[in-house]
Amino acid sequence: GAKKLWGGRFTGATDPLMDKFNESISFDKRMWAEDVKGSQAYAKALIRAGILTDAEGEVIVAGLEKVGSEWQAGVFEIMPGDEDIHTANERRLTELIGPVGGKLHTGRSRNDQVATDTRLWLLGQQQDIRALLQGLLQAACDRAEQEIDILMPGFTHLQSAQVVRWSHWLMSHAAAWQRDDERMRDLLPRAARLPLGSGAIAGNPFSVDRTFLAQELGFVGGVCPNSMDAVSDRDYVCEMLFVAAMVLLHLSRFAEDLIIYSSAPFGFVQCSDAYTTGSSLMPQKKNPDALELLRGKAGRIQGHLAGLLCILKGTPTTYNKDFQESWEMLFDAVDTTKDCLSIATGVLSTLSVYPDKMTNGLSGDMLATDLAEYLVRKGVPFRDTHHIAGEAVRLAEDRGIPLNELTADDLRGIHPMFGPDVSGVWSYERSTDLRDTEGGASKRSVLEQISKLRQYLSHT
Ligand code: ARG
Repeated sequence: GAKKLWGGRFTGATDPLMDKFNESISFDKRMWAEDVKGSQAYAKALIRAGILTDAEGEVIVAGLEKVGSEWQAGVFEIMPGDEDIHTANERRLTELIGPVGGKLHTGRSRNDQVATDTRLWLLGQQQDIRALLQGLLQAACDRAEQEIDILMPGFTHLQSAQVVRWSHWLMSHAAAWQRDDERMRDLLPRAARLPLGSGAIAGNPFSVDRTFLAQELGFVGGVCPNSMDAVSDRDYVCEMLFVAAMVLLHLSRFAEDLIIYSSAPFGFVQCSDAYTTGSSLMPQKKNPDALELLRGKAGRIQGHLAGLLCILKGTPTTYNKDFQESWEMLFDAVDTTKDCLSIATGVLSTLSVYPDKMTNGLSGDMLATDLAEYLVRKGVPFRDTHHIAGEAVRLAEDRGIPLNELTADDLRGIHPMFGPDVSGVWSYERSTDLRDTEGGASKRSVLEQISKLRQYLSHT
């Protein structure tokens, strides 16, 4: 077999199946740029520590640049002995610049290297995901503002509950996505801590300046405080998977609402052709596949989170090869989250809404609470009014008419405080506009929610 970086103490060959079992180059090669960048910074730190001469360091930095450009151009050739991205880049560096390449790994281990590369990679992705989340939030704000006057039935337990605005529903999802954006932001100070300079476990014997390395690589959270923990810690991967799982959980519930709202009995919305597919058998079908995939992919990523927690829980501290299993989950979670955010933004901004269908879905019953509140305003205790309005619902049901078709006289028969002005209760618009406290369904309140979110977006 090919010569191994760690082959010195070995006499026997590795089983070819073991090589295949052990390799991670097939997936960790996507971090080539981070690996090059981390090594260039490390070479500079070795110069500063007096381990490399300026000339040696410059040759190494330039050689690494060449390695990077080969990856960039798609001509980097992976060789049989290239176990992972770290060994591949070092092997190629030494081919390009000769034995001086062998000085790069002084005091470094793949244990601090892999943690550095993956954190660097994650930091770039964290920014991309936030940009996508913010694009989605923007789309929600735009739509909510334009369609502020559309009323729709709100549901609890999927049963008709109270009148809300379509925009209120939109902003309810936006509120969850905003929390996701905050969570994505909040993992930064912990993820952006530098493991490099921790070696395999015990630290660096050549006094490399870790603060310099952190600055050079943009680790705004400083350096990992303990070398044993630095090679042991995969919290940043868990946190990323958790935030990804939450993003997708929210997109899944958003999708589920829209699947229901776009079904025939509702007909509140229709997905654009861009995000639906047909049936091979039934010519009339237009299926919300994009939405169903959003729902399905959430399950897959939740599985990754659970999977990683299981992988980690029984490992002794510091580095174990088990950890290598996490990268595919991390990559998949990040890729999937980005795709799902793009799809959700597309679905949301091209959706057709049918306000008439929404208003048709409103029923007088949904004003039963308002009827009770009418009496509250006349001084009747709410607990009594709830009972009285309940009697009104029963009366309407007995007569087979909607609640809002009971006359003022019918109602006075139930309670003397009902006056002729009770007819004012039967306005859906009024029902939402009475709910004018912060976060409520009134037009003013929903517009305020939109403007607050816009403010967040412009300051973040
Ligand atoms: N490919 C390995 C990983 O992803 C890199 C670290 C290997 N370290 C070691 N001591 N074998 O975890």
